[in-house]
Amino acid sequence: MMDRRALLIGAGAVTLLGGVARAARSAAFRPGEVWNDNNGVAINAHGGGLLRHAGRWWWYGEHKTAGKAGNTALVGVHAYSSTDLVNWRDEGIALPVSDDPDSPIARGCILERPKVVYNPRTRTFVMWFHLELKGQGYAAAQAGVAIARRPQGPFRFLRAGRVNPGIWPANATAEDKAPDTTLARDFAGGQMARDMTVFVDGDTAWQVYASEENATLQIARLAPDWTAHDGYYVRALPDGGNEAPALFKAKGRYYMFASGLTGWRPNPGRVYVADRVTGPWRSLGNPVRGSEEDRKTTFHSQSTFVVPLPPERSGGEPRFIFMADRWRPDNAIDGRYVWLPVEWDGETPVLRWRDRWTLADGWNAR
Ligand code: GAL
Repeated sequence: MMDRRALLIGAGAVTLLGGVARAARSAAFRPGEVWNDNNGVAINAHGGGLLRHAGRWWWYGEHKTAGKAGNTALVGVHAYSSTDLVNWRDEGIALPVSDDPDSPIARGCILERPKVVYNPRTRTFVMWFHLELKGQGYAAAQAGVAIARRPQGPFRFLRAGRVNPGIWPANATAEDKAPDTTLARDFAGGQMARDMTVFVDGDTAWQVYASEENATLQIARLAPDWTAHDGYYVRALPDGGNEAPALFKAKGRYYMFASGLTGWRPNPGRVYVADRVTGPWRSLGNPVRGSEEDRKTTFHSQSTFVVPLPPERSGGEPRFIFMADRWRPDNAIDGRYVWLPVEWDGETPVLRWRDRWTLADGWNAR
C-alpha cells in the first residue's frame, strides 16, 4: 500500500501517466503554499468565491498576471471545478475582458472579487464583481454583472454602474441624508461599490459592498432574477471602515468576516453577527486565535468568501471554510490562498492556523 506521507509529499507534483501529464491528486489543504490545478499550473483565481452546482464545486476568481501590472484585469475571471475542494480542474476563462476599448470591461480595467450565484428561477448563473474603469484608478467604484447558461461560461457582460441612484437606504437617518455626507453626495449618481460579495439567503440574494469611500458597508437586495438591484438597501456598520466582506449563516444567525482598510497590506480581521442579513451587525472582535503576528495580519491574508460545506460532508454539523487571499501586489500572479476551517469559541467563529489539513480532520464546528 502506498505510504500516505508519500502521497502528501507528492501532492502537486506532475507525473507522466500514459503519456499525459497529470498533477498528482492531493488530499490536504496547504494554506499559503502554491496550489496547483489538474495541469500542474498554479490556480489563478484571486479574490474568489465558490459555488456548488450539480454536485461540483466551482471556484471563480481574478486571473492575475506577473508583475505589478498583473493587478489590473488583462485576462478576466478564471473558473475551476472540483468534487473534493482540494483538486481543481481548470475550466478556463469564464468572463474574458473585452478587446473593445469602449467596453466597461476593456482589457486593463480593474475587475475584482467576482462572485457567482445560480438562480434556479431563471436557470442562470449570475456573476457580480467590483469594476473600476480602465485608467481611472479606483474612482469609478462600480458593481458589474454578467450572466451565463453554464457554470464555465462564457459569461455575457450585462452592465456596470453605481448602486441604486436616486434611492435612500431604508435605514438612513435625517443626519445620514444631510448634504455634507458621502451618502448624499452620491444619492443622485448612485452609491459607490468596491469590495463586494453576494450572499444568497433562501430565495433572496444580497450584494454586500464597501461604499461611501469605504467607510460604510451597504447591503442591497437583488431583483428576483438577481441581475439588478431592486432598490431596497441598508447601510451596515456605519463608519466601521470594513471591506472584504464574506458572509455565512449558521444556526439561524448571520456572520460576516471582514477586514480593515489597508489596501493589499493585511490587517487584523473582524467578525460580526446579526439576526438578519440587513443587521444591525454586532462586532465579535478579531476572529484570529494565534500569535500576535497572526492576529495583526489575519495570517497575512484578507477574507474573500466563506464556503458552507453540505451536511453530508459535515457529519451533521454545519461546517464552513474561511477563504482568504495572501496578496502579492508586486507580482500579482504569485498571490496565495489561505483556506482554514471556521471553528467556534462559544458563539464566536474563530480561525486557527494549520499548515496542512483535510476535510476529514475533526474540528470544533459546534
Ligand atoms: C484592497 C481590496 C482589494 C483591492 C486592493 C487594491 O483593500 O480588498 O480587493 O481592491 O485593496 O489596493
